[in-house]
Amino acid sequence: MNEQVSNPDFISETVWRYFWFPVCTLEEFYAADPSGRGPLKVMLLGETLVIVELDEGIAALGARCCHRSASLALGFVDKGKLRCRYHGWAYNGKGHCVEIPACPDMEIPAVARIPQYETQQAYGLVWVRLDASADTKIPLCPGFTDKNFKAVQIEPYEWQTSAARRLENYVDLAHFPYVHPNTLFDPNIMSVTPP
Ligand code: FES
Repeated sequence: MNEQVSNPDFISETVWRYFWFPVCTLEEFYAADPSGRGPLKVMLLGETLVIVELDEGIAALGARCCHRSASLALGFVDKGKLRCRYHGWAYNGKGHCVEIPACPDMEIPAVARIPQYETQQAYGLVWVRLDASADTKIPLCPGFTDKNFKAVQIEPYEWQTSAARRLENYVDLAHFPYVHPNTLFDPNIMSVTPP
């Protein structure tokens, strides 16, 4: 494997952006603001976003206002638009500024916009994909709706590592007998049968 690809931090900065990631549960989103529509500030692959429900549905937008960079996480939903609390610019679900209260008669320039990312809801989670140029899908989780399974939701917690290292650890069965003996694995069985 070449040196760059074997470096998980390199992978984090490039490949991960093509994939869908859950950024919050729907429950967290609806509880984030008394309006029940956000905005909720989330972090994905080093980017700060706001999740907010506007006229177009639940949207994932860049977290900084394109006017004077105020945090849109401090903004509020006003008639289906996300309004900045600094000078009141309003954004739609595509990230376009659609209202500048101080200049009501001015044509709004096309550059008055913030990043907008694809978002979907599945399995009780809000998912975001930062780069839509690859045909990736939300991972299938058939057990979530299977009556024979029980979905258990735990509190979020932070790992002091890169996303790639975390994922690598999660699918690495060979460490189980050493790190989780008698809990997740039989310490007398060292060999791994691929699932
Ligand atoms: Fe957002 Fe001015 S900084 S409207």
